[in-house]
Amino acid sequence: MKNFVTESRILSRTEISLAGRNYAEFEIAGDITFEPGQYLMLRTNTCKHAWPCPYPLIRKTEHGASVLADTRQDLYQCWEGDTIQYWGPRGTSPAEKDSLPVLAAEPAAYFLLYPFLTAGLCRKLLIFDTDGNAFEPDDQISAMRFLNIPCSEQEKISGEFSVECFPDLIQTAKAALKEPGRVILALNPKNAEAFAEHTPDGQKDSVFLYISNKKACGIDSCKGCYLHDRDGGMGINVCCKGPFMPLSMIDFEKDGKSLEEFISAK
Ligand code: FES
Repeated sequence: MKNFVTESRILSRTEISLAGRNYAEFEIAGDITFEPGQYLMLRTNTCKHAWPCPYPLIRKTEHGASVLADTRQDLYQCWEGDTIQYWGPRGTSPAEKDSLPVLAAEPAAYFLLYPFLTAGLCRKLLIFDTDGNAFEPDDQISAMRFLNIPCSEQEKISGEFSVECFPDLIQTAKAALKEPGRVILALNPKNAEAFAEHTPDGQKDSVFLYISNKKACGIDSCKGCYLHDRDGGMGINVCCKGPFMPLSMIDFEKDGKSLEEFISAK
């Protein structure tokens, strides 16, 4: 992991739609190698406070790597050729080398799981959608378009990889928890807490939730991202050990208030 600041620039900007929300994919110049789930801390020149933000890394490119920005973030206002500063990749990937995870998300947070799909790291994708976008399992073509599933993954759709949409959270949790191996989650705080309540204690080590709290430095320096440590320690630095953390490490009563909602970026 690189902690030093790299001066860089945007090589390209592409608008994309993921689960009905608008984002932009930015190719950033640099020597950037990463695992799905890691992120770049990135500062733009358009931010008047010069505060950096974490941006999920989604793919390696010939001259760097690309990150995703939603419409509310500073980077979204930038264009090809603009200069930026970054440090990272930061964080720890929750994916295992020899086993594909189940991914589960609601549409507003689906973009956080997109990097796992672009890397081919998904056995099953479960979407919890009360927006009326539910699709039947046999309507996989519209599902793939809605979710912008990469071509390489579409070919596997009739094999082990599958997409399912559920109208409520409990059904989503049941479907995810009956699968062997890791589950990787991106949900709004209330839904994440409900999912955790339906997860048996024995499975909480293998269900990883994206922790949507503020990250200011990204290098374990400001203590702004810390969760309470159940063992009474100094706290858990989400910017380094996360941002995907096992449910067994999260205390929703103590830390739930610091989690931010993923508001629709439509
Ligand atoms: S963001 Fe500063 S310690 Fe984690």
